[in-house]
Amino acid sequence: MQNTDHSPRDGFGSKIGTIAAVAGSAVGLGNIWRFPYITGENGGAAFILVYVFIVLFIGIPVMLSEFTIGRRAQRNAFGAFRLLAPRRPWYLVGVMGIAAAFMILAFYSTVAGWTFEYLRLSLVNGFKGKSPEELNALFENFYTGGWRPVIWQVVVMLLTGGILLAGVRKGIEKYTKILMPMLLVLLVILAIRSITLPGAMQGLNFLFRPDFSKIDASTILEALGQAFFSMSIGMGTIITYGSYIRKKDRLSETAFSVAGADLAVALLAGIAILPAVFAFGIAPSEGPGLVFITLPNIFQHMPGGYFWALMFFTLLIIAALTSTISVMEVVVAFISEEFSLRRRYATIIATIGVTFLGVLCTLSQGPYPQFSLFGRNLFDLMNFSTANIMLPTGGLFIVIFVGWFLGRKNVRDEISNGGTMKVRLFNIFLFLVRFIAPLAIAMVFLNGLGILKL
Ligand code: PHE
Repeated sequence: MQNTDHSPRDGFGSKIGTIAAVAGSAVGLGNIWRFPYITGENGGAAFILVYVFIVLFIGIPVMLSEFTIGRRAQRNAFGAFRLLAPRRPWYLVGVMGIAAAFMILAFYSTVAGWTFEYLRLSLVNGFKGKSPEELNALFENFYTGGWRPVIWQVVVMLLTGGILLAGVRKGIEKYTKILMPMLLVLLVILAIRSITLPGAMQGLNFLFRPDFSKIDASTILEALGQAFFSMSIGMGTIITYGSYIRKKDRLSETAFSVAGADLAVALLAGIAILPAVFAFGIAPSEGPGLVFITLPNIFQHMPGGYFWALMFFTLLIIAALTSTISVMEVVVAFISEEFSLRRRYATIIATIGVTFLGVLCTLSQGPYPQFSLFGRNLFDLMNFSTANIMLPTGGLFIVIFVGWFLGRKNVRDEISNGGTMKVRLFNIFLFLVRFIAPLAIAMVFLNGLGILKL
C-alpha cells in the first residue's frame, strides 16, 4: 500500500485550488442538466425547499464526514476504511463507492459526450430554422444513433484520463482553477439573459413559489438522491479529494464553501433555464431532454442565439469534465495505491475499464436496448440506482462510521487540525452525524422505495 516511487503523496497545493477542485467535482451535469429537469418533473419550488433542507442537514454533514475520513487516512476510498478500521467490513463502503464510480461515469460520460455534439452543432449553426419536432427528432436520432455518441464519449474519457495523467496538483488542481471561474461567469451571464426575457416571471414563480401539494415520498427521495449526486457525496469522491487536502486547511470551511457553491450553481442553472422554458411556452417537465431539445429551440428564437448556444454548451462541457475527473480519480487512486501501480498505469487501466462500461451504456440507449436490467436500459438504471440508491446507502454508512466508530476524539482532532483551531458547532455536527442524518436518510430511503409507509 505504499507509493511505488517513494515520493511524498501528491495533493492540493493551495486553499483556493482545493476549493476549485472540490467545487469542480460537485458542480457538474448534476447541477445544470439534472437539477433543472428533476425540479421540473417534481413540481418546482416546493421540491427546491426540500432540497435545501437536505443539503443543510444531511449533505453538509456527509461531506464533512468524508473529508474527515480521507484526510485522516491519507488514502483512497477503499484503503481509508481498511486503515481506519482494520479487519472490519467497513471497507465494503469503499468497494461500493468504486462500483458507483464506474456506474456514474458510464452514463455521465454519455451525457458529457452529448454536450460535445451539441457544441459542434452550435458551431455549425445546426439548430437554425428547425421546428421543435425537428429538434426533438435531431436529439432522438443522435443519441439512439449508435456510433457518434460513442465517439464523443471516448473523447470525454480521453480528456478525463489526460488531465488525470498529469497528477493531482499539476492536473486536477491546475485545470479546475482555470475552468471553474469561467463556468461561473458564463452561467451568470446566461441567467441574466434568461430572466430578462419577456414572460420569464412565470418561470421564476415556478422556481420560488412553493406548492406543497406536489410533495410526496418519492419526491423527497428524488431530492435526497439529487443532493447526494450533486454534492458528489456517498461514494468516496470526497474521501479521495479529502485525502489531498493540506493538514493546515479547514475542512469545515471547505465543506461549507463547496456546498454553497454547488447550491448556488444549481439555482443559477434553474434560473438560466426554467424562465426561458416558460418564456417560450414549453413544459418544464421535459425530462432529460430539457437541455438538449428545449434549449436549442429557445436559442434559435433569441437574438444572438448563436452565441448563447455556444456559451451554454461550452459551460456544460466544463462542468462535466471537472466532475468526470473527480469520479475517475476515485478509481485511479484506488488502483495505484492498493495495487502499488504507478499513477500513469492506474490511469490507463481505469480509463479503459470505465470506457468499456460507458460504451455499453450508450449503446443501450439506441441500437442495443437488450442491454437492460429490471425493465430499465443500462443508462436509466445507472442514473437512477447510483443517485437514489447507492449514494444514499454509502452516505448512511459514512455518517455512522464517523459518528459512532471513528471516535469522538479522532474526529475532533481531524476537524480542528490537531486542536490548533477552534471548531464551532462541533457538537451540532456530531449530533447530526450520529442521529439526524442516519435516521433521515434511512427514513427517506425506505419510504421512497415503498418499503416503509409513513
Ligand atoms: N456532482 C457531480 C455533478 O453534479 C456528479 C458526481 C457525482 C461527481 C458523484 C462525483 C461523484 O455533476
